[in-house]
Amino acid sequence: MTRSSSLPPPEPSRIDQLPTPALVLDLDRAERNIAAMAERARRWGVNLRPHIKTHKCVELGRLQRDAGASGITVSTLDEARVFAAAGFDDITWAFPVILSRIPECVALAELVTLRLVVDSDEAVDGLERSGARFPVLLKVDCGYHRAGVDPRSPAALGLARRLSESRELGFDGLLSHSGHAYACDSVTSIRRVAAEECEVMGELAERLRADGLVVPTVSIGSTPACRLAEAVPGATEIRPGNYVFFDRTQAVFGVCAPSEVAVSVVATVVSSRPDLGQCVVDAGALALSKDPGPPLAERPSMGEVFDDYASGALSPDLYVRSLSQEHGILSRALPVGTRVRILPNHSCLTVACFDELRVARGERLIDRWSIRRERD
Ligand SMILES: Cc1ncc(COP(=O)(O)O)c(C=O)c1O
Repeated sequence: MTRSSSLPPPEPSRIDQLPTPALVLDLDRAERNIAAMAERARRWGVNLRPHIKTHKCVELGRLQRDAGASGITVSTLDEARVFAAAGFDDITWAFPVILSRIPECVALAELVTLRLVVDSDEAVDGLERSGARFPVLLKVDCGYHRAGVDPRSPAALGLARRLSESRELGFDGLLSHSGHAYACDSVTSIRRVAAEECEVMGELAERLRADGLVVPTVSIGSTPACRLAEAVPGATEIRPGNYVFFDRTQAVFGVCAPSEVAVSVVATVVSSRPDLGQCVVDAGALALSKDPGPPLAERPSMGEVFDDYASGALSPDLYVRSLSQEHGILSRALPVGTRVRILPNHSCLTVACFDELRVARGERLIDRWSIRRERD
C-alpha cells in the first residue's frame, strides 16, 4: 500500500492548537492601536506616516493606510521595494542614505515617490551625481545623538541651504527621531522629550524660513513621544512605528497597558528541572530577540508570561530568565507540554524573527500574514 505524502497537515483553528513557537497577532488590539494613533494625528492636524519596520507586513500597512496614514516610513530599501510592489506610492526611507545604494534609489524613484534623508555633504554629493530629482529631508539630531546634524550648528543651515539651492534635488524639510524617549524614567520625562523635539525642530524650521528657505515638512516622532505628548506644535508629520503592537518596554514606561499589546509568542515547555526551579521553552533568542527590556523594569527579564492574556495580567513569578539561540529558560519548573504566552520585550525585533503572523480574533485563528523580512 502506498502512503499519500501530499496531504498538508490540517490548519489549526485555535491558538491552543498552533505548533510552537508561534507569533500571534491579536487583530482586535492592533486595529484599536491603529485607530487611536490615527485619531491623535487627526486631532493634531498632522500627517501620520507610520514606520512599517515594526511589522514588515503589507496587510497591516493597508490597515494603517485605510485609517488615514498619508504614506509610510521604512528603514531599508528592501522594505521600500516590498511595499512599493504592494501599491504604497509615498515612501520615506528614514535612514541616512547609503552611498552604494543610490542606484537602487534611482530605480525605485521611477515607480513611487521616494523621500530620502541626509545629514552630510557626502550624501548630497552622491545624490546630485545620480542626476535623479529626489525629495530630500535633512536629518536633525533632536537630542537622541544617533544620526543627524546639530540643529544649532552652521552645518544645519548650510546643508538645508545647499539642498534648497540644488538644481537636482528638492528640499522637503526636516526629520528627527526622539529615540532618547526610551532612556527616560517617567511619563513626565517622556513628555519633556516630546516637547523638546517639537521645540528644537520648530526653532530650526523658523530659522530656515527667516533665512528665506521653504520648509514644507517637519517630521518627528517615536511611539512613546507620540502616545504621551499633549500636542506637537510646529510638526507637520509624525512617524511612530511600534504603536501598532506595543510591547513590554512600552508597558513598563506606562505608554500602554499589557492588555493593549497586540503580539505575543506562544511557546511550549520542552524540558523541566524542579530541582533548579526552572524549565525550558521552545522560544529562544531567535523567537524573542535578545532585547534586554528597559532598565526601569521591576526585574530584569527577557520577556514576561501572561497569567491571563485577556485581562493582560502578568505572572508575578514566571518570566523568561535567560535565552540561548533556541532555548528560553523560564523562572519556574512547569510540566513538559505546558503552553505559555509571552509578552516580548521589543515587538519590532521579535516580529523580525518570524516569517508570519498567526492572525487571531480572541482565541480563534482567522488568517496568516507574511512578515516580509527579505534582505537583498
Ligand atoms: C528614524 C525613525 N523614525 C521613527 C521610528 C519609530 O519609532 P518607534 O519605534 O518608537 O515608534 C524609528 C524607530 O526606531 C526611527 O528609527
